Amino acid sequence: MKLFVYSLRMFDEKKYFDEWSEKLGVEYSYCKERPTSDNMHLVKGYDAVSVLTTPVDEEILKAWKEDGIKVVSTRTVGFDHIDCKAAKALSMPVCNVTYPPKGVANYTIMLMLMCCRKVVHILERAAIQDFTLPGKIGVELSNCTVGIIGTGKIGRTVLEHLKGFGCKLLAYDLYPSDAVKEMAEYVDLETLYRECDIISLHMPSTDENFHMINENALSKMKDGVILINTARGNLIDSKAMIAALKSGKIGAAGLDVIEDEFGLYYYDYIGKPMNNEELAVLKSFPNVIVTPHTAFYTVEAVDHMVKNSILGCMYEVEPQNQEKNPFRVL
Ligand code: COI
Repeated sequence: MKLFVYSLRMFDEKKYFDEWSEKLGVEYSYCKERPTSDNMHLVKGYDAVSVLTTPVDEEILKAWKEDGIKVVSTRTVGFDHIDCKAAKALSMPVCNVTYPPKGVANYTIMLMLMCCRKVVHILERAAIQDFTLPGKIGVELSNCTVGIIGTGKIGRTVLEHLKGFGCKLLAYDLYPSDAVKEMAEYVDLETLYRECDIISLHMPSTDENFHMINENALSKMKDGVILINTARGNLIDSKAMIAALKSGKIGAAGLDVIEDEFGLYYYDYIGKPMNNEELAVLKSFPNVIVTPHTAFYTVEAVDHMVKNSILGCMYEVEPQNQEKNPFRVL
C-alpha cells in the first residue's frame, strides 16, 4: 500500500511513521502542511491518505477520489473536521483511530483537581512569593457529585478512575451501557445538571449536540458548578459560558477545547493577536484553565494514532479485509 500523510509532525509522529510503515510493509510519503487546494493533488499515485484535525472539504475529497485514493483516515478519534456528507456521496471510506482512553481520562481528572483546588491561582501567587491563604481555599473532589455526559470509552474510563476517589457518580448517555451502571447512576440531563458539583463532557460533536451547554442548560446547574470539557469546543456556547462565569453560576472551568480553535491551536502565536475573542476573555478569568487541546497528547496515544491510521487504510485498500475494518466510521 502507498500512503500519503498530511500535517506530519516531524518532532513526534515521524519516528512512529518510519517504524510502523516498515513493520507493516507500507510505503509512505508526506507533507508537513494540511491538505489544501494547492497541495491536494500530491496524492496522485497513492492508495490512501492520512490527515489530522484540519478541514477536509468536498473539493479536496473530490480531487482525491479522481486521483484514485481509496480511503481517508484521520489520526484522531473525532472526525467532525471531515465533510462526511461529501465523503458518503463520493463513496469514499473514512476511518478514524482509537488510542488508549486513559490519557484523556487522566487529564480530565487533573483538570477537575486543579479546578477544585484553585491550583492555577495558587501557582500564580506563589510565583510572586505570595504565600498567604486568603482566596485559596478549595473543595475536595472526593466529596463532589460528578456528572459525566457521554459514556463511551473515555467517559467510562473517567468514571472508573473517579470511583477510586470516592465521588458520587452520575451519568448521561443516549445509549446507556451495563458496565457504566456498575459504577454510576444513569439519570436524565435535568437531574444531572441539578445535582452535580462537577460536569464533564465526553461526547463527539454532532449537529444535534451543537451548543448543548447553552444559557438554558447552565441555568439548571448548581451555583458554582465546575465545568470540564476535553471533548469538542462547540458543545459549549462560549458566550453563555462567559456570562455564567461572570455571574458566578460557573465556579470554575477546565477547558482543553474551545469553539473555533482551528487555525489557533498547535500554532505559535507568541506576540501575535489571536483571532478568537472568547478565548482571550476566558484566559483572563483566574478560575478558568485553558489548555490547547493537549489532553490526548501522550507518547502512547501518538504511537497508536499513527499505527491505527496505517492499519485502517490497509484494511480498506485490501479488498478481502474491508468488511473487517474496525476503524471505518463511514
Ligand atoms: C481526537 O483524537 O479526536 C482528539 O481530540 C485529539 C486530536 C485533536 C489530535
